Amino acid sequence: MTERIKEEHIELWRKEGAVVVPEFFKRKEIDAVVEDFQIIFPDRQTAVRPIDNKEKGDVGKTTLEQFKNFENIPFECSSSLNLISVHPDLIEFARQALKTEEVRLYQAQAWAKFTGEADFDQAFHCDFGNHTLTVPSRDECLNSITFIIFFSEVTEAHGPTHYVNRTDSDNCGGVKRFLKKREDHEYQKELMKFERSAAGPAGTLLAYGIDVLHRGTNLTEPNGYRYAMTSCFKKAGNDAIGYTAWPWHFNKPWHKVFEHATPEQLNCFGVPLPGDPFWTEETISLAKLRYPKWEMSEYIMKQ
Ligand SMILES: [Fe+2]
Repeated sequence: MTERIKEEHIELWRKEGAVVVPEFFKRKEIDAVVEDFQIIFPDRQTAVRPIDNKEKGDVGKTTLEQFKNFENIPFECSSSLNLISVHPDLIEFARQALKTEEVRLYQAQAWAKFTGEADFDQAFHCDFGNHTLTVPSRDECLNSITFIIFFSEVTEAHGPTHYVNRTDSDNCGGVKRFLKKREDHEYQKELMKFERSAAGPAGTLLAYGIDVLHRGTNLTEPNGYRYAMTSCFKKAGNDAIGYTAWPWHFNKPWHKVFEHATPEQLNCFGVPLPGDPFWTEETISLAKLRYPKWEMSEYIMKQ
């Protein structure tokens, strides 16, 4: 276990599908990431009044406006934000949670929300819909782990994610009921009785599984904002789970990742480790042409 990862975090995630770890990231890391958020989402449009599109008693819904400031890595900013989703302690958390040494990152997005930009209230949902074409397994290691990390202070007025522990949602009908009729108003209201909040100071981490019922909540703080990063890991070789094919985003500034990441971090994107038969004199020299400033000494040494 590292200093930030406690056995009880992993146990709670395994049993209930979700765990909140306040202040997982520290001030220095947070400040550097916040600077990058300000670079990539410069048109901050906070408003004094929140938007509330709901009729009285209604539950929220997922809308496109909620994703207005939402971007895949890599970003045109420093390595702080570009590498935060593969921070060594996140990799380690994922390894322990999924009981494997080899993990792959398959989603990493920066997401900024501003009061008055949208009604951010969502209905309870599970994420498996766009993480697999099948359904969640009861063996959590065959699914995946999602981290949402807040890089700004998130109170109840700053749109914290709300979630329901597996035990509670199972008692309400769980994933089965969600699949049968996700808009079931009664179901949504029942789940609300059990919802917990991921609210916490900047640096707070929410880890959850693809079978966990959760929802985004609205930002009501006048001129409030929320900076969050998502980071999803699966066990290497688990072809049932997916989201981002990294080469699909080949036009993005990948050198920002390659020039600063360790071989272990790059391996999370599917780059073979030093010593892998993939690395020959030829592949190394071609890779140097693609990423001239990539420091490849470990790959050269171990070929
Ligand atoms: Fe979600």
